[in-house]
Amino acid sequence: MDPRVEKRLGLKQLVDKVVSAEEAAALIQDGTVVGMSGFTRAGDAKVVPMALVERAKNEKFKIDVYTGASLGPEVDNYLAAAGVINKRGPFQGDAVMRGMINKDQISYVDAHLSHNAELVRQGVIGPIKHLILEAVAITEDGLIIPSNSVGNSPIFAEYAENIIIELNISHPEALIGIHDIYVPGEQGKRDAIPMTNAEQRIGEIGIRVDLDKIQAIVISEEPDAPSLIVPPDEETQDMANILLDFFRSEIKAGRLTNELMPLQSGVGSVANAVLDGFANAEFENLVVASEVLQDAVFNLIDAGKVRFAAATSITLTEELQKKVYGNLEKYADKICLRPQEISNHPELIRRLGLISINTALELDIYGNVNSTHVSGTKMMNGIGGSGDFARNARLGIFVTKSYAKGGAISSIVPMVSHVDHTEHDVDVIVTEQGIADLRGLAPKERVKLIIENCAHPDFKEQLWDYYNRAYEATGGAHTPHILEEALSWHVNLAKNKTMKKETANA
Ligand code: COA
Repeated sequence: MDPRVEKRLGLKQLVDKVVSAEEAAALIQDGTVVGMSGFTRAGDAKVVPMALVERAKNEKFKIDVYTGASLGPEVDNYLAAAGVINKRGPFQGDAVMRGMINKDQISYVDAHLSHNAELVRQGVIGPIKHLILEAVAITEDGLIIPSNSVGNSPIFAEYAENIIIELNISHPEALIGIHDIYVPGEQGKRDAIPMTNAEQRIGEIGIRVDLDKIQAIVISEEPDAPSLIVPPDEETQDMANILLDFFRSEIKAGRLTNELMPLQSGVGSVANAVLDGFANAEFENLVVASEVLQDAVFNLIDAGKVRFAAATSITLTEELQKKVYGNLEKYADKICLRPQEISNHPELIRRLGLISINTALELDIYGNVNSTHVSGTKMMNGIGGSGDFARNARLGIFVTKSYAKGGAISSIVPMVSHVDHTEHDVDVIVTEQGIADLRGLAPKERVKLIIENCAHPDFKEQLWDYYNRAYEATGGAHTPHILEEALSWHVNLAKNKTMKKETANA
């Protein structure tokens, strides 16, 4: 046996479970529910899914795939394109899968990421026939050590009938000890989660499973697909600066200290760029308590700004993968990976007082946010953890550029075409134009701040025109709208490829 495998496979009784990816893939049956490890392109099984893609060339079969969040191309692109996926949940971010979801070729359950584990416990998701779980090691005492994410793997491992392990020997051994696996018991019978600060470890370093359920072990050396975020630009830099000034004013008001509160920052380029902005700011001794650790977090650890970072996954660009995974020992006592039902748990988010920063596709003049549906109809990625955090955070912040598609689209509209985060869950909005602090404001008070501070200049007049006419038409009702017109900006976009009114009238 390869000495690298021998080292990672501590439980010798499992040696005879080692099979090829093809043999493992042959165990997956048509019409079953399969849980897979992986969260935001990190820690996902790769070689067994690729063997399923091969199998699909000669055989028609379909499975339902539930994961932590989005996976790399092996599942969300190749397996989807092979026609194998019937239903997918709870999050994806792949162009091929997105296209198939929007053509009714894949049924997609877009759900709050903290909810899945409870749904598995209740049997709403399941029965789970197989879990395919990427691991970096199996310890002598039978703990399965996940790789670059934890996601939903612990709950899947508890409820799945069978477990297929992809033992990935290319991931650094230094991952052993980074995870903190705590699984709450059944609702109504469980204790409070024993965590009062984000740096606390409350569980074990790996997933404890019923060893009889381990059906196969496949050896893998495939790296995670790198994250696709683009570097900060001038406008995301502006947003970061606006946000940093806001934190300074919160310190002045006595609501925050220079250490702020634990920070959560969402997926995507904008959220990463905003976090990057902390590198040159005076805030220190920061703690990150997020869902994904993107590049910016490791840069901030290097800069001595972040003292600890916890999440459920590490998702890095190729450059940062080399830097971090080639040198993981350096970060080992500063990072921790938890199951997503812990990283995203409302109880903990509220208790720890998180500052949460997520990205909106569009928002309306009253503060409702759409993060998922382009023009109310086409799925982009999904709500992910943004709802878990926004509703329960001490400060729920949404960032977005004020415009999209070269200025044809205003990200601020009269009425959002789909609501992910209601006005009640949105405290602060930041665009490259400015900031609207909506806390303690009634809907009509919010309008002025949102339009004046956050909207793109090209759309301000048009927004005021709508609001003023809506005010008149409703006699100043609590939340003025002209229902026939509220979505006309999206209709205009569909017809004329712009939300600008001149073109609509041309
Ligand atoms: N209408 C239509 N398209 C829009 C749009 C709008 N109002 N606003 C942005 N877009 C498009 C952009 O043009 C871009 O398209 P492209 O990929 O063709 O260039 C795409 O949406 C992504 O926007 P971008 O500005 O590059 O931001 P991003 O990479 O930060 O992604 C979200 C933004 C909202 C899609 C992403 O953050 C997301 O999926 N969020 C929901 C999940 C979430 O918040 N999870 C966080 C918990 S960790």
